[in-house]
Amino acid sequence: MNDSNRHSNGLALGVCYYPEHWPEQDWADDARQMRELGLRYVRIGEFAWSRIEPRRNEFDFDWLDRAIATLASEGLKIVLCTPTATPPKWLIDEHPEILPVDPVTGRVRGFGSRRHYDFSSPVYLEEAERISVALAHRYGRDERVVGWQTDNELCCHDTTHSASAAARLGFQSWCEDRYGSIDALNTAWGNVFWSMEYPTFDSIELPAGAVTETNPAHQLAYRRFASEQVIGFQNTCIAAIRDHAPEQWVTHNFIPMKDTQVDCFQLAQPLDFVSYDSYPLGRTEYLLGREEPALARRYMRTGHPDYTAYYLDQCRGLKGRGFWIMEQQPGPVNWGPSNPRPAPGMVTLWTLEAIAHGAEVVSFFRWRQARFAQEQMHAGLLGSDRRKSDAWQEVATVTEVLARLADHPLPQPVAQVALVVDVSAQWVTEIEHQGQRSDAQRIAFQYYRTLRRLNVAVDLVSADADLSSYGLIIVPSLPIVPAPLLSALEQSASTVLFGPRCGAKTAEFQIPEQGAPGVLQSLIDIRVNSVETLRPDVREGFSYQDATFHSCLWCEDLEVGSASVEMHYQSQRPGLVRQGNYWYLATLTDDDFLLRLMTDLLAEADIPRQQMPEDIRCHRRGSVWFAFNYGAQPHSLDLPQDTEFLWGGPELPAHGVSIWLVEAAETPV
Ligand code: GAL
Repeated sequence: MNDSNRHSNGLALGVCYYPEHWPEQDWADDARQMRELGLRYVRIGEFAWSRIEPRRNEFDFDWLDRAIATLASEGLKIVLCTPTATPPKWLIDEHPEILPVDPVTGRVRGFGSRRHYDFSSPVYLEEAERISVALAHRYGRDERVVGWQTDNELCCHDTTHSASAAARLGFQSWCEDRYGSIDALNTAWGNVFWSMEYPTFDSIELPAGAVTETNPAHQLAYRRFASEQVIGFQNTCIAAIRDHAPEQWVTHNFIPMKDTQVDCFQLAQPLDFVSYDSYPLGRTEYLLGREEPALARRYMRTGHPDYTAYYLDQCRGLKGRGFWIMEQQPGPVNWGPSNPRPAPGMVTLWTLEAIAHGAEVVSFFRWRQARFAQEQMHAGLLGSDRRKSDAWQEVATVTEVLARLADHPLPQPVAQVALVVDVSAQWVTEIEHQGQRSDAQRIAFQYYRTLRRLNVAVDLVSADADLSSYGLIIVPSLPIVPAPLLSALEQSASTVLFGPRCGAKTAEFQIPEQGAPGVLQSLIDIRVNSVETLRPDVREGFSYQDATFHSCLWCEDLEVGSASVEMHYQSQRPGLVRQGNYWYLATLTDDDFLLRLMTDLLAEADIPRQQMPEDIRCHRRGSVWFAFNYGAQPHSLDLPQDTEFLWGGPELPAHGVSIWLVEAAETPV
């Protein structure tokens, strides 16, 4: 790996560039200006298939060679992409069966934008491998190219699921492999219900296009299959690159885990590191816009203070190591319901926040605003007319900060709290939602933001992670508890909290024979008698210690054996129980209760905590502390007089950042 142009602590900046969009006479100026701004990496090529191979087997690498030479002549390192996100028209005309089929409408999703391919298409798999080999063969030993990005944002635009003939065939043989006999499948899924029994594997349908809901076990099996298709597709492309590029790294630019519908821990596994595309404003609007409009309005120009960090920590968790931001929002985007300008300072803040949470390189999307086609309204570091955009100076500021940080080692953040996340929780809660808004991601995020409000670092870990270093382990909502997780928790002396619905399903989406929480009954002696879900506008009070809090959305009625009851609903039924170090919370609650409960559990686990003002967040890498102000008011940090600041000072301006050195964990607010 050639990382010679990073600071010694691994930090650097980069940019996404599309030489094929601009006259060749602009390239040299672009490259020079990139260098002058302090950018060190440039990502290219992820949508350029029609220029690289305009007709089958007629490759045109000349323009790409010249672009690489021009960029490299300014010392920029190239990140080259495989262009599989955009199969060209000639290929689709030759093989229209590559196109995916929308499982909801049953219509073919046609040519004319991007991601128009079916992960189950054997033809496309071969084509993707072929173009990956062609590129890797040409550039795999080119020292100017330091690494590769596979495809682009796999699964974006809801492309994981397809109801194509290829997907149906693939699913049938996947079912045969998993269940062995059709009787076993019928029993596992409970197909006797509504006479859904299948006579043979080749009669199995996809769970799409039926009159009303299809069998949840069938849906779960299909999601597992589709997830494996995506992983298999990427693995083929990675292998093609690695065969010809033994010294170059391979990454992929992830979107939030939930939007992929894929087991992202598995997807990340063969990569050297994970990258993430960070668009704080659009994503905040999507998460909060409809349901919490006041909050969405308040953070419209900054993003929610915990929302970006949640995804940063998610990415760090995928491989438990440093990551890249491959695309960082530099200004208004074009795809949100509304697309505001970031508040001045936020591009700097987001970049440094990514670094505080473990990013090593942050690359901005994009160099120059496009003059044509779909993303004309998306900001770049330069306007389409080459004027410097608002973000320009903010990036220049970041380069100054990186120079100040250059001599300080930045080990990855260390957390004492683990949040166990697993795609199966998302699948089960989406397939069988039973009530509104009680999906796994929303529940996990509520814990995350509560812990961050208490200034606690959090690792988002997989269900098979090593949990031995954590003092507090939270399993927010995990209906299917895998055996390795159960045995890790059985051996754990840490404080463990399970949220509602944990253990409520078997691996084949059935209620366990002994009832919920199923296998967890070996840890806590309880049984869920019944479940009710509530309208989002209904809350029911309960008292905990000396105060009243609220239960909402999802409430379980527990029968308690030898566990002790720590909280009752108003109805006097038990709502929170514990047995030794294991806790079970039988309901979703308001934020205030979670704040109180987390404070208590952190105290029990002896983990330092400190309540932060609403808009201030801190994070730490080794002896370097970062503080971020998401608010429009300045904030005074309460730090010792002799604190050594690397950036900013004790007065944290609106939307500003301060960075200082610490010996031990000091209280920064
Ligand atoms: C990303 C994508 C880019 C561009 C960008 C616009 O999701 O990877 O190609 O479309 O969004 O914000």
